[in-house]
Amino acid sequence: MSVSIMTHPLIKHKITLLRKCGTGTSEVRKLIEEIAMLMGYEALADLPTADIRITTPIEETIQPVLNGKKLAVVPILRAGLGMVNGILALVPSAKIGHIGLERDPETHEPREYYCKLPDNIGERQIVVVDPMLATGGSAIAAVDFIKQRGGKKIKFMCVIAAPEGVDALTKAHPDIQLYIGCLDRCLNENAYICPGLGDAGDRIFGTK
Ligand code: PRP
Ligand code: URA
Repeated sequence: MSVSIMTHPLIKHKITLLRKCGTGTSEVRKLIEEIAMLMGYEALADLPTADIRITTPIEETIQPVLNGKKLAVVPILRAGLGMVNGILALVPSAKIGHIGLERDPETHEPREYYCKLPDNIGERQIVVVDPMLATGGSAIAAVDFIKQRGGKKIKFMCVIAAPEGVDALTKAHPDIQLYIGCLDRCLNENAYICPGLGDAGDRIFGTK
């Protein structure tokens, strides 16, 4: 697995604002979207292109455009939804799949409640998005589902990761590419990331 940790100062700055207790719902949504867009710019640097012939006001020329089946963005519900528009700002024609997973509050194990992916998933570049990679259980389950349905080329993008989640995901799915906004210190006894940002779903959707 290749693991890329973001170094851009704009991403670092926005993640710091995102973590703060006083950052309210609308600002959290805006920041997550912006971070996803900045990370997407890096994560999609290897999208395939093909040359086409065009005419400029000056002359005919051969120039590159994106090539191949449209990208599939797959948010893990709920919190992953907050990252989708950031990627769509870069690739408006991307297809969107959804995977519904919820951590059991006692066992911290993920439970699937929904899965719908774009057709021909095996031929698409897939970007799974979720702001938080904590134990890694949700990410591993999401990638399992996508592979069971034929997905092959998979990238996973998260805003904040714990080392425990990175280790688990790396071991379970060594073939995927992982993009991390910031690698935090550890998990606490409730499997929350420290220092983290708290419950990403609640902060994005204002449910607490
Ligand atoms: C959060 C987060 C991830 C998961 C990460 O979702 O958005 O999906 O926890 O934890 P893990 O790495 O230990 O699996 P949550 O289960 O709280 O659901 P929600 O997005 O609906 O709030
Ligand atoms: N899920 C979250 O939303 N936050 C954490 O810190 C861990 C899992």
